[in-house]
Amino acid sequence: MTQTFKKTIKAFRSTFLDFVADPFYVPEAECVRYIPDGLLILEDGKVKELGAYDQLQDKYADIPVTAYPGRLIMPGFIDTHIHFPQTEMIAAYGEQLLEWLSKYVFPAERKFKDKAYAKEVATVFLDELLKNGTTTALVFAAVFPESVDAFFEEADRRNLRMIAGKVMMDRNAPSFILDTAESSYQDTKKLIEKWHKKGRLLYAVTPRFAPTSSNQQLQLAEKLLQEYPDVYLHTHISENLNEVAWVKELFSECNGYLDVYDQAGLVKERSVFAHGIHLTDQEFQRLSETKAAIAFCPTSNLFLGSGLFKIEQAKSAEHPVKVGLGTDIGAGTSFSILQTANEAYKVAQLRQQKLSPFKALFLATLGGAKALCLDNIIGNFDVGKEADFVVLDLRSTPLMAFRNPDAIPKSLEELADRTFSLIIMGDDRAVQATYIMGELASSQQSG
Ligand code: GUN
Ligand code: ZN
Repeated sequence: MTQTFKKTIKAFRSTFLDFVADPFYVPEAECVRYIPDGLLILEDGKVKELGAYDQLQDKYADIPVTAYPGRLIMPGFIDTHIHFPQTEMIAAYGEQLLEWLSKYVFPAERKFKDKAYAKEVATVFLDELLKNGTTTALVFAAVFPESVDAFFEEADRRNLRMIAGKVMMDRNAPSFILDTAESSYQDTKKLIEKWHKKGRLLYAVTPRFAPTSSNQQLQLAEKLLQEYPDVYLHTHISENLNEVAWVKELFSECNGYLDVYDQAGLVKERSVFAHGIHLTDQEFQRLSETKAAIAFCPTSNLFLGSGLFKIEQAKSAEHPVKVGLGTDIGAGTSFSILQTANEAYKVAQLRQQKLSPFKALFLATLGGAKALCLDNIIGNFDVGKEADFVVLDLRSTPLMAFRNPDAIPKSLEELADRTFSLIIMGDDRAVQATYIMGELASSQQSG
């Protein structure tokens, strides 16, 4: 017997902004899709159509419309690097990377052997992401498989498009937080079988960073990528000068930090490297060649005193590297991708560079999707894409309301000005609502 299922159609009326090309390479006016009075039509949680309200209104006259007058709807923000077990130790005082890891991170992550505890933190973490308008993230769990189960169970319950993995680390850290090369391989394999492509979830093979993995462990990570070609590789690289010097000592047979991963076969499309502040020209070139991506984490890089990322080099025309924004909680200081873009702007300023609001918002949405090789399913409002989106209020505080008397920009110049103020002044208060596959997942009373 055949059954027919009724499709769910929804309509949203508001102002819409998304990106259809990369403004680092294409004139901005050609990249921005701006519809001052638009109608977004969804079918079963995916984009069916987006256009001017005037033009679509008759076609969808019998569909009830959810209207957000005076608001700006954008695709959900994408965080390309974050640690969920570090939620509780955000704002840990006084240290740079290696000392900070020993003093604060390892003791905090130790607690994630307890699944119930991991579940509690995963709940707080995902609430916080959604409140800030982040709908997809590439996430470090802890070394314990229980922490991955806890995270994915909670993400699955909320139907989120999330990528995560168990940390692999078999040396140079306290024994309470180490695995072995063999156990990390076996545990990761089981977790991939259990979670990769379950609902909207995806798995990332996650060696912490070169200093805490033996060569054998890195090779087994590569074996997993061979066995499961569509999983991700997620790690850190060239964040801090002492770290870079340590990697040189530990891997004296390699020609630099990236080469450690490269010799193990870990540098490829779907590989995401956090930070990359001290990369050499050759390393940028190699990342470009291999289609690997970098997560730019400005709040973290400033907080730990790590340095200033060279965004213009990563996004050069000669050797373009895919780049997304990462909060890197708990070295990062805010869950907000708006605040992350704010600090990215300032990092560029310190290097005599300009990061325009459209470039920053591209990195926060379609650019992040490209860095995660997910731009075929998320990142903008193209037809068929999953409808994860945010409703933004450019007048969410008294000062922002004073700064932006008219809610709806009338020209591209005005839009650039208003969205720049959103990046510089906005945070979770500017995110009025977050939708996942067309369903309301988080909202706040607008003041
Ligand atoms: N390098 C290795 N582990 C970490 C971590 O947890 N956070 C950051 N920022 N860098 C790292
Ligand atoms: Zn990190």
